[in-house]
Amino acid sequence: MVETNKVRLQKAMADAGIASRRKSEELIAGGHVLVNGKVVKEMGVKVDHHDKIEVDGVPIHNEKKRYILMYKPRGVISAVKDDKDRKVITDLLEEDFRERVYPVGRLDYDTSGLIILTNDGDFANKLMHPKYHVEKTYVAKIKGILALEEIKKLERGMKLKDFKTSPAKVQVMSKDMKKGTSIVKLVIHEGHNHQVKNMFAAVGHPVIKLSREKYGFLTLDGLVSGKYRDLTRQEVAKLKDRK
Ligand code: URA
Repeated sequence: MVETNKVRLQKAMADAGIASRRKSEELIAGGHVLVNGKVVKEMGVKVDHHDKIEVDGVPIHNEKKRYILMYKPRGVISAVKDDKDRKVITDLLEEDFRERVYPVGRLDYDTSGLIILTNDGDFANKLMHPKYHVEKTYVAKIKGILALEEIKKLERGMKLKDFKTSPAKVQVMSKDMKKGTSIVKLVIHEGHNHQVKNMFAAVGHPVIKLSREKYGFLTLDGLVSGKYRDLTRQEVAKLKDRK
């Protein structure tokens, strides 16, 4: 699911620089504002980037489309808001970052790594659809040492609680016999909640630490934890081009 990031109409107007929230409320009450071609006079209507908002017949400025690649640290929620007031991913954006971007998919609170943020809903939906097969590469520190049969299970696809995973690529990168832990690279193209943790748990090797190192052809090269960059035009075009 895409985080739709709905906001009150007067806030969307204020964010677009039309007027203060209070003044925007007056404009709404006065019948100056159309949402998707219909006059909205009541307060409380919520909108997002899919809605066409016009004030006195002029569409409000559409935000510039942004495509951000971020290196998410552990201890941050990949959402734009949190009920428990924990740090969210958009808190990591610089103060003068204007566009209202949101994460494409999720990384768990305790997972670090590559995540894309955007305000382009079509782009986000496309990337998240399993049909587009964006490969995500994770590196997990797990408890124990994988047996050959367990590796095969992960590779073939396995039944989890509510679905069967597609075939995955598995590469054991190192084993620490003394500590009884391993580092394993896992490549999947789905994005179910806690999928990687659930896959390893299902073969009896709970994840201790998890990081997403790659998203399709994108890597974290040149970024440190907590930092981000805009995707290049070529990178965006390449991602949009997926059939
Ligand atoms: N799989 C998980 O279990 N956690 C993540 O954060 C991402 C994929």
